[in-house]
Amino acid sequence: MSSTRSVAPARTSPGPLTEVTLRDGTAAMIWPLLGTDRDLLRYGFDELSPQSRQQRFLTHLPRLSEGMLRSLVDGVDGVNHLALLLTVLPADGPARPVGVGRLVRYAEDPSAADVAVTVADAWQGRGVAGALLTALLARRPAGITRLRTTVAADNRASLAMLARHGTMTTRRDGFGVLTVEVDDLTPPA
Ligand SMILES: CC(C)(COP(=O)(O)OP(=O)(O)OC[C@H]1O[C@@H](n2cnc3c(N)ncnc32)[C@H](O)[C@@H]1OP(=O)(O)O)[C@@H](O)C(=O)NCCC(=O)NCCS
Repeated sequence: MSSTRSVAPARTSPGPLTEVTLRDGTAAMIWPLLGTDRDLLRYGFDELSPQSRQQRFLTHLPRLSEGMLRSLVDGVDGVNHLALLLTVLPADGPARPVGVGRLVRYAEDPSAADVAVTVADAWQGRGVAGALLTALLARRPAGITRLRTTVAADNRASLAMLARHGTMTTRRDGFGVLTVEVDDLTPPA
C-alpha cells in the first residue's frame, strides 16, 4: 500500500475529502476508492506482511485474485458498499495511500454492515484505521445501526478500533476467530 508504485494517482473527481492528522502529526486525507484504484489495491496487498494478510482475510492468501479485486473495486457502489482510502502527506516524502477501509451493508440484514480496514505495516499504530472507521461511519447509509464482522481473536488493534464506536459483544466463531457485533453506534456527525 505504501510503495512508490502506489503513489496516489491524480484524481480529477476525488469525491468528498476528509482531512485528518495522525497521532504522530502526519497530515492525511481520506477520499473514496475509485474504479481506477485496482492496481493500487493489488500492489498494496502484495506489500502486506503475511500476518496482516492473514488477519485481514482470516486465511492464507498469497495474492488477490482477479475475482476478489473485482469485488473490492467494482463492487463499490457508494451506497451499500463504501470504500475509502487514506493517503498520507508526509513532510519528508511524496503523498502515498497507506490504508483502505470498507463498509458493506448486509443485504439480508440491512440494519447491519460488515467493516474491514487494512493499513500498510509501516503505518500501523498511528491512528490510520481509527480515522478510516470514523470516516466510514460518518458516511454510512441511513438505517445502519449495527456492525457485524469476524476478527482474529488476537487482533487487539481491530477489537480496540471497533469498541470505540458503540457497545461491543463478541462470540467465538471457530478456532481463533470471533464474531464481533457493535450496537448503539455513535450517530453520524
Ligand atoms: C488492525 C489494523 C487495521 C489497525 O490499524 P492501525 O492503523 O494500526 O490502528 P490504529 O492505530 O488506528 O489503532 C486502533 C486502535 O487499536 C489500538 N492499537 C493499535 N495497535 C495495537 C496493538 N498492537 N495492540 C493493542 N491495541 C492496539 C489503538 O490504541 C487504537 O485504540 P484506541 O482507538 O482505543 O486508541 C491494522 O493493524 C491492520 O491493517 N492489520 C492487518 C489487517 C487487519 O487485521 N484488518 C482488520 C480486519 S477488520
